[in-house]
Amino acid sequence: MRVVSGIKPTGNLHLGNYLGAIRQWVVMQDDVAAKGGESLFFIADLHGLTEWIAPEELAGHTIEMAAALIAAGIDPARSILFNQARVPQHSELSWLLNNVARVGWLNRMTQFKDKAGKNREGASVGLYDYPVLMAADVLLYNATHVPVGEDQKQHLELTRDIATKFNQDYRRELFVLPEPMVSTEAPRVMSLRDPGAKMSKSNPSEQARVNLIDDDDTIAAKFRKAKSDADVLPDSVAGLADRPEARNLVTIYAALSGSTPDAVLAEFAGQGFGAFKPALADLAVATLGPIRDRMLRLLDDRAEVGRLLEAGAERARALAAPLLLDVQRTMGLQVST
Ligand code: TYM
Repeated sequence: MRVVSGIKPTGNLHLGNYLGAIRQWVVMQDDVAAKGGESLFFIADLHGLTEWIAPEELAGHTIEMAAALIAAGIDPARSILFNQARVPQHSELSWLLNNVARVGWLNRMTQFKDKAGKNREGASVGLYDYPVLMAADVLLYNATHVPVGEDQKQHLELTRDIATKFNQDYRRELFVLPEPMVSTEAPRVMSLRDPGAKMSKSNPSEQARVNLIDDDDTIAAKFRKAKSDADVLPDSVAGLADRPEARNLVTIYAALSGSTPDAVLAEFAGQGFGAFKPALADLAVATLGPIRDRMLRLLDDRAEVGRLLEAGAERARALAAPLLLDVQRTMGLQVST
């Protein structure tokens, strides 16, 4: 069993990342250790370059994201935690896989269409090619499981298509087909202002997302002001079918408390948001507050966080090197041992 996943260095872990992915990483880290496998988690700083970012900002965000992951429970002793740019095999494999991936496959990627918007001609080639680098991230370690939020599923299907075509073209079962592991509790946390949009770093309103770095009052205020409706809560999830705001808030409550939406509704049925939102705010502060405090303590010594990443990169390079060599030889490249 080998678990691999990554996160972009956006400077801020938000509740969607945390509930959709990072909490799963922490759980899987223990499962994998128990089964004698490896888990690798990385800050996707090369993916961070696909849209303009000032160099000092990218470097700072990478350290901040690493601190957030450690604070959330990723243990750099049990998991291999590193930043992608320090393992050059990611870029090398990405180029090799560019020759396996098809333009038609990339043209179907919805994330590119969303991010490039109307300005497709002005988008970077890196933004277009982003999913191939992501495939390289996963295939480089022959990952068996990739824990992600729902929005990354399409990229992982592409990864499987690339691996399958490579294995067919070169008549070798070189790559393992990775399984996406999408969180069942919170596959898609939605914006607190617009339940039609996922919670993301690019939401125009700061009120739309809860950031790990937010102080207690800010977290509580964002939940108190979250969009909801005037009805009372029903006694089962079926009653939330046409109430996307309510469904999102109940899902968040269930995920934060480690329970199910039906169990949450059994507790709050018949009550309105005047009672539910303060309870949700308290729960979020109790869960996220200690993670934020740990992260801020880690950031008192940024150089130490950098050293932890470098130690992880060394371990990752050792795992990546033989597989890359195998791919290069398989493709007919003259490489020395
Ligand atoms: P990124 O940085 O956008 O997000 C990191 C993880 O958080 C999940 N996520 C969410 N889950 C639920 N609800 C939300 N609102 C929400 N927003 C984000 C994402 O699904 C993701 O799992 N391309 C990836 C990073 C990456 C990667 C990889 C992931 C690069 N290489 C290889 C896996 C394997 C990304 O941009 O995630």
